[in-house]
Amino acid sequence: MIDFYLNGRRQQCADVPAETSLLELLRLHLGKTGTKEGCASGDCGACTVAIGELDAQGELEYRSANACILPAHQVASCHLVTVEGLARSDTPHSAQPHSSQLHPAQAAMVDHHGSQCGFCTPGIVMSLFTLYEQQRRTRAPLTQQHLEQALGGNLCRCTGYRPIRDAALAMGDYPDFQLAWADNTELADNLAGLRSDAYVAPQNYAMPQDIAALREMKRLRPRAKLVAGGTDLWLETTQRLETLDDIIDVHQVAELRTIDETAGGWWIGAAITLAELSPLFSEHFPAFEHLLHRFASSQIRNRGTLGGNIANASPIGDGPPVLLALGARLRLDGPEGARELPLEDFFLDYRKTALAEHEFIAAIFIPHPSAGRNLKHNLKIWKLSKRREDDISAVLGAFAWRIEEGVLRDVRLAFGGMAAIPLRATATEATLEGRAPDSAAFAAARQQLGEELTPMNDVRGSAEYRRTAASNLLERLRLMIEADNNHSAIKVTLDAYAH
Ligand SMILES: Cc1cc2nc3c(=O)[nH]c(=O)nc-3n(C[C@H](O)[C@H](O)[C@H](O)COP(=O)(O)OP(=O)(O)OC[C@H]3O[C@@H](n4cnc5c(N)ncnc54)[C@H](O)[C@@H]3O)c2cc1C
Ligand code: FES
Ligand code: FES
Repeated sequence: MIDFYLNGRRQQCADVPAETSLLELLRLHLGKTGTKEGCASGDCGACTVAIGELDAQGELEYRSANACILPAHQVASCHLVTVEGLARSDTPHSAQPHSSQLHPAQAAMVDHHGSQCGFCTPGIVMSLFTLYEQQRRTRAPLTQQHLEQALGGNLCRCTGYRPIRDAALAMGDYPDFQLAWADNTELADNLAGLRSDAYVAPQNYAMPQDIAALREMKRLRPRAKLVAGGTDLWLETTQRLETLDDIIDVHQVAELRTIDETAGGWWIGAAITLAELSPLFSEHFPAFEHLLHRFASSQIRNRGTLGGNIANASPIGDGPPVLLALGARLRLDGPEGARELPLEDFFLDYRKTALAEHEFIAAIFIPHPSAGRNLKHNLKIWKLSKRREDDISAVLGAFAWRIEEGVLRDVRLAFGGMAAIPLRATATEATLEGRAPDSAAFAAARQQLGEELTPMNDVRGSAEYRRTAASNLLERLRLMIEADNNHSAIKVTLDAYAH
């Protein structure tokens, strides 16, 4: 039974098969067809909905998500808002709501001509709605960056983005709007009540709440597929039409949902979402936080987890090369106990990992940047992809180093897209270790890199392109270090291109 609130009203959906997506639940089971299916792969945003969950203060916080790749069972105990839930229909018999009854996200889209064929429009309106809600909650000014983040996961093929952008910028000028379901002042309390009710899952969809229950599930059903955010796994059913008939959902396992700071660094629970990592990264690893803006879209970052990003072992995943450069470790757990291993020992071959059948990733350890030697730790990350937003890397380079008495120390050069697994170029690192960061050292490093790595050859880039691009990233690194040392104006130019 999936027990949740939809646009302010309680919904109880029984007998929902495990592999049902939220989009299917809405359109096929509940007849709510306002939410559209464009790609069914998380790319276009037509299916965007807002998921409201209680924050630490017991207030509802709304985040956008792609309904097409979201397991329907994950909305249990949530307040789901769809495009049908925004306009007030105080005059139920009027054919069309008058514009004063529209939510500012909708009214602004109408007034700024932000919709032509309209297929993308429900998804865009829902992204604008979550943006509006976030601005209202935080009282932060609407910046270009917020706007791009909110809309980066929505494609429109006929209107063009300027009118949509204009609508976004104008939303705040509309009078305060009371959502129909906001009249239900007990909504948050009711949701809290649902949370404490036992969730009755179908036999083949388990949702353990703590690590002991997860271990037990893995013992009983070692072959069941784990799902966290579903942003990768759910494509198996929507794109490859495979059956997901035995699922263990880890997204509510309490121990996988914490970030624990120790003297040496942070243990990040595997089910912490990418969006939730933003505050930690922006304080301690600004380059990693910057990369998050180019990691998929808001919808995906709101659901996708760091654990899922590692476990899927994609050679072009964005998190693993950065974590390799930072010296991350993993804690694997299971019915037979826990063990730790360095991240580089986790990736064995294309999509093959050191994870045993009964194991799961419990947490990821990222060392504190100042741990070890008292030298400034540097980190640069460059992602090369065809589009700036919502695109997978062709090549990603993540470089960490320190400078001690004019020479490079603790050099770690990690790449995605340059082999069947994300990996460090250790021989290339060795050519730089202990040397001054000059042209000669980097020329040797570039030569070594060409010999050390065997890039992939696929639609995102030929092996030759990748080899050249990775080598050029090393040259960019040299220029950066040089500019840093000389406080040179060239840095401005380099930063401008360093997405
Ligand atoms: C449109 C789109 C854009 C994307 N863009 C990017 C991008 O720019 N960069 C990028 O790196 N990725 C991208 N991805 C891939 C994906 O979103 C990320 O890899 C994400 O971090 C996966 O996390 P998840 O929680 O959704 O994983 P899930 O889909 O839940 O799981 C992924 C895999 O990991 C396993 N798994 C999950 N949690 C655990 C655990 N705790 N222990 C063991 N196994 C586990 C699952 O069984 C599954 O095999 C994109 C995906 C889409 C659909
Ligand atoms: S239908 Fe395209 S993102 Fe869901
Ligand atoms: S209005 Fe047609 S796709 Fe956006």
